[in-house]
Amino acid sequence: MDGLGELRARYLEAVAGAADEAALEAVRLAALGRKGEISLRMRELGGMDPAARQVAGPALNALKDELEAALKARRAALADAALEERLAAEWLDVTLPARRRPAGTVHPVSQVMEEVTAIFADMGFAVAEGPQIESDWHNFDALNIPPEHPARQEHDTFFMARLPGDDRPPHVLRTHTSPVQIRAMAEHGAPIRVIAPGRVYRMDMDQTHTPMFHQVEGLAIDRDISMAHLKWVLEEFCRAYFEVDHVELRFRASHFPFTEPSAEVDLRCSWEGGQLKVGEGESWMEILGSGMVHPKVLSAAGVDPAEWQGFAFGMGIDRIAMLKYGIPDLRAFFESDLRWLRHYGFAALDMPTLSGGLSR
Ligand code: DAH
Repeated sequence: MDGLGELRARYLEAVAGAADEAALEAVRLAALGRKGEISLRMRELGGMDPAARQVAGPALNALKDELEAALKARRAALADAALEERLAAEWLDVTLPARRRPAGTVHPVSQVMEEVTAIFADMGFAVAEGPQIESDWHNFDALNIPPEHPARQEHDTFFMARLPGDDRPPHVLRTHTSPVQIRAMAEHGAPIRVIAPGRVYRMDMDQTHTPMFHQVEGLAIDRDISMAHLKWVLEEFCRAYFEVDHVELRFRASHFPFTEPSAEVDLRCSWEGGQLKVGEGESWMEILGSGMVHPKVLSAAGVDPAEWQGFAFGMGIDRIAMLKYGIPDLRAFFESDLRWLRHYGFAALDMPTLSGGLSR
């Protein structure tokens, strides 16, 4: 049969040169499709005389087989190449961290609570908790603030509703973290060393007051705890918290019903250029209330004041957060403004530790 050699060479070359699956399919159709060149030649076999057909038939079949094998091989090669290309393009370093950067930030109040907890944990204080809806007795009476005591007025208390027929004093939204002292001592007895960070509530609202804010209570009870221990602990705390080598505290005689004697504590600082510097300068900034726990408070919590004594303190967390991080308005703390949170918030996976650094 004429021209088979030329046909073979042409199609094998076309197969080898097909750059993709579509080009390869076009070659197959041109040769072996219903109207393909080789298919047409095969159809012509019927009109040949038997002698010629005996030569041309097997030759055409052999060419068809050869071309089909070439197409198959080329198709496999193209598929391999496509896979190689994908593997190269979609390469992934599985040793890279899989987690995307967290989008949120840690609120300054949470950050400061973590910082405060880390510092006091280092001094052997455990964390205690109490309910935010507190009984009148825990919030006031047990802390030596009986009904009609003037201190009750100062607390601007939110009272809970009472059920009809219930004539007990209404529960309150706790006005300070001090009731946790009572709960911790009642539960664990003495000796005890705890801090109690948490939310407190008072009916008050201006640039430095919000109806909900945060305090941290401290309590250390043992047989021989004195004001000297209180002073050391607070100095140590301020040094660590404000991240300075030197601090100076001033204890000012004061009055709290739950401590005797009582002291308010001021920190030496300067406000030069609107910038707070702790440990230097001529200004004093009040940071907390403190004192030796009143014997009546120990008794109310089931701890014998003839055997045990110790100190307590209460500090505003929002306030020390504003001071350390230069945040001017307390109300913004609780407005959930994303721009504010991005500006003042902390990286979510950066836990404050004394060894790793508190604030960075
Ligand atoms: N509970 C007080 C307040 O809310 C703060 C306070 C003062 C706590 C003296 C104490 C303390 O434990 O000893 O203003």
